[in-house]
Amino acid sequence: MPEAVSLATVDAEEFPAARMVLVKGTDERGVVFYTNVNSNKGRHLRANGKTAICAWWIDTATQVRLRGIVEEVTTAEADAYFATRPRISRLGAWASDQSEEIPGREVLEARVEEYARKYPGEDIPRPPHWTGFRLIPDEIEFWREGAYRLHDRLLYEREGTGWKTKVLSP
Ligand SMILES: Cc1cc2nc3c(=O)[nH]c(=O)nc-3n(C[C@H](O)[C@H](O)[C@H](O)COP(=O)(O)O)c2cc1C
Repeated sequence: MPEAVSLATVDAEEFPAARMVLVKGTDERGVVFYTNVNSNKGRHLRANGKTAICAWWIDTATQVRLRGIVEEVTTAEADAYFATRPRISRLGAWASDQSEEIPGREVLEARVEEYARKYPGEDIPRPPHWTGFRLIPDEIEFWREGAYRLHDRLLYEREGTGWKTKVLSP
């Protein structure tokens, strides 16, 4: 996966929303990203785990699309990743009510200062509102650019314990 991907969620009115997130783990189970569970995306994901990711590699002209359901990572997994973040990023996770309106940037900076005083050292606990989600794909589509827009598309659909493949028209 690239460093960052587009993540799509759906709100209560079934209106989709997409934004970039950093990919912090990829393995046979799925793709992990971290966020604030009270953010728009966090609330969407907790209400409706149906999610899609779209990734693009410009060098190889390759797109990968995933669709599936998210699960939350374990607290141990979230704690371990949170501990790797730089101190200011960890303080920022406390300071930012992600997706909420604020009167101005100075409010955010004052909150970072407030948490810096509260946690003066490196020992900063993970905020309860900050964790990771793993998208477990049911569909994975690989798209590779072809000449004259005759692109290659290969769709993997989960079937039982394996996958069935389909070639799609571009
Ligand atoms: C390259 C890039 C990477 C980002 N990575 C994350 C991330 O890992 N987690 C996150 O919560 N927001 C990340 N953001 C910010 C989100 O795109 C988004 O602005 C924010 O999470 C609020 O989204 P929401 O209001 O839809 O919840 C990233 C933005 C960019 C441009």
